[in-house]
Amino acid sequence: MKAYPSIEDLRERARRRVPKMFFDYAEAGSYNQETLRANRADFEKIKLRQRVLMNVDKRDTATTILGEKAALPLALAPIGLGGMMHGDGEIAACRAAQAAGIPYTLSTMSICSIEDVAGAVDKPFWFQLYVMRDRGFIRELIQRAAAAKCSALMLTVDLQVLGQRHCDVRNGLTVPPEIKLRNVIDIATKPGWALSILKGKRKTFGNLAGHVKDMTNINSLAAWTANQFDPTLSWKDVEWVKSLWPGKLILKGILDADDAKIAVTAGADAISVSNHGGRQLDGAPSAIAALPRIVDAVGAEIEVMFDSGIRTGADIVRALALGARSCIVGRSYIYGLGAGGQAGVARAIEILGKELDVTMALCGVNSLAEIDRDVIADSPMDTQRRPQ
Ligand code: GLV
Repeated sequence: MKAYPSIEDLRERARRRVPKMFFDYAEAGSYNQETLRANRADFEKIKLRQRVLMNVDKRDTATTILGEKAALPLALAPIGLGGMMHGDGEIAACRAAQAAGIPYTLSTMSICSIEDVAGAVDKPFWFQLYVMRDRGFIRELIQRAAAAKCSALMLTVDLQVLGQRHCDVRNGLTVPPEIKLRNVIDIATKPGWALSILKGKRKTFGNLAGHVKDMTNINSLAAWTANQFDPTLSWKDVEWVKSLWPGKLILKGILDADDAKIAVTAGADAISVSNHGGRQLDGAPSAIAALPRIVDAVGAEIEVMFDSGIRTGADIVRALALGARSCIVGRSYIYGLGAGGQAGVARAIEILGKELDVTMALCGVNSLAEIDRDVIADSPMDTQRRPQ
């Protein structure tokens, strides 16, 4: 995969290899995609201070995430339908993450099941939970994650109802794809993808099939989600989840300092500051714009992670500079998965890691602990403030 020097190159390769409905599903933001665009635009507005002659020979990108050693301040996000980007995609992504020494999170809405992944990898991974109306099923799912020795549970708190992604409606997204002429033509032009999916263990949602009572319409994701996901979810349910889960608990999807304070009181071990990659509340601020206020409110009390919009190692430096302890990437590795399976995910992690390392060097820092608000350049409007 060396011919792909950036995440953008992997994205372009994935776009050519993966059927349109699945590529678009991963790519889309909700509604007008304002928040999706803001995630990138606001990152690009944050400029880094170029420092020179600082002896940056001893750089180290290692850290701990939730007490576990990690080679990078990075984890792979839970991605629904990961196994539709490449056959056995979740196993491939988990193996790549573990080989690179970073955590992988399996989605509730994955194609490979918890047991499939646990049986195919050596080390523990994290499990992401969506809470559905059928609490008996959710209790079982938590027990299955514990039995598979998952080392953290990531409860997604910003998707009680699904923000519409227009392209999924236009494309008639179903899992597996319906046999319609346009899908057949699309798939016929993507033979590498088709072969990998044919060889894969499963063609539908591995954690749900055979476990959830109402499986009708599960192939239509939006309709099924609307029926099954529990809109009554509240902080009381966080307590309930905590009472069932013996390990570390991450709440993913916090974008407001008041919610972050409640998360601390609720006893979460970590939060991820996130707007779900611009896929939920369109019109919400970018996650990077929301981060400093949340860090100021709770950074001393809880581990603050960050996701939504990271595409480069420089973005990781920006998020760490604004107070995140680590970052989570979704699309950045999903492009790698679509581009080349396990090798593509490994390449995505390698790209981000190398960019992080070089960005640290050019900012004059050797360790992640040195990355603070001081690595951010003043905006041109503020040049008078810092003595030269
Ligand atoms: C699910 O997490 C989605 O964003 O579609």
